[in-house]
Amino acid sequence: MNFSVYIPTDIEFGCGSLSRLHEKKLPGKKALIVMTNGRSAKRLGYLDRLVKELELAGAEHVLYDRVLQNPTKDNVMEGADLARSEGCDMIVALGGGSAIDAGKAIALMAANDGDYWDYVRTGSGKGLPIEHDPLPLVAITTTAGTGSEADAGAVITNVELNEKIGFGTPKSFPVLSIVDPELMVSVPKLYTVYQGFDVFFHVAECYISRIQSYAVDPLALDAIKRVTKYLPRAYEDGNDMEAREQMAWANTEAGLCLTFGSLTVEHAMEHALSGVYQDLVHGLGLLLIAPAYFSYCETKPELAERMADMAEAMGSPDPKAPGAFTAELKKLMDACGVGDLKMSDSGIRREDFPEVVRLSHNHKGYQNEFMPITDQDVMDILEASYR
Ligand SMILES: [Fe+2]
Repeated sequence: MNFSVYIPTDIEFGCGSLSRLHEKKLPGKKALIVMTNGRSAKRLGYLDRLVKELELAGAEHVLYDRVLQNPTKDNVMEGADLARSEGCDMIVALGGGSAIDAGKAIALMAANDGDYWDYVRTGSGKGLPIEHDPLPLVAITTTAGTGSEADAGAVITNVELNEKIGFGTPKSFPVLSIVDPELMVSVPKLYTVYQGFDVFFHVAECYISRIQSYAVDPLALDAIKRVTKYLPRAYEDGNDMEAREQMAWANTEAGLCLTFGSLTVEHAMEHALSGVYQDLVHGLGLLLIAPAYFSYCETKPELAERMADMAEAMGSPDPKAPGAFTAELKKLMDACGVGDLKMSDSGIRREDFPEVVRLSHNHKGYQNEFMPITDQDVMDILEASYR
């Protein structure tokens, strides 16, 4: 087996780690703080704490807090313009995957001319060479969701084109990531679940993808065990610090899996769905298609061993039995209050499925299926998911 492993990020993990930020060597003197337009990080005092840490470290700051839940190309260009006009020499992203992904893309565009879609390599992106390294990025994650603090990818939506595309370069890794489970305590119940399942699907997809790596396998199975055990607890009681800490690490493991491995068509389909329905929450989109997608995977003899490994990690009494993994998945979804979701409740319409299939080709997951997957297969998964 051949694979490469590269992770240049200094990951500071643990409760209270935000309060140690000033002790770290920061990669610049003036930060553009990137946040979403939500108010929670301000209301909960996280922004004030970050500003204090920057001041203790002797760094200035400017705030860009207009990133949308699904960050847009316009967010990226606006943030990059601000970073340039203010003379910022580093980006500090505070928030979940939306803020961190936007931070990565802003870091790139603050250092390079043109339009972000000039550099994006899939969809209608031009894939031009990147002339200058991005500004250095510090990522402070407040959710256990995307694993964005431990990978180089950023998912950005081009609203005009309905394209939601993941893109990054080896220079797009954060130089420093703060993973402080205390910052995750206030994530509302439903978002805890959506984000937790995003973690779960990241590692499950990496485990069954065509891009195999010894580096992925132990991390993926370990994260599956953690999510299965601790996500229902974090759902039941958001103040369960052990559950929050375990989910925080599962999330970082998932980020590492994304770095060492690759996602599959489940994520390609979800990005297409939330490209068409731009208010659809990513984790919810994944949950809507997951049972049908993994049932499809269970029909592939080539994946049988890996599906059984995952079922075993979830505690299946008979992991090699047909449908064992999806049975455990259903149990986990039920335990987290999302066992009975309907696409129609999210406004998804069957007549848009051909467009979803078309857009799913913009995501590399389409090529990373262990066995080749056809447009008809993807359509069948969508149809089987529809209620
Ligand atoms: Fe995801």
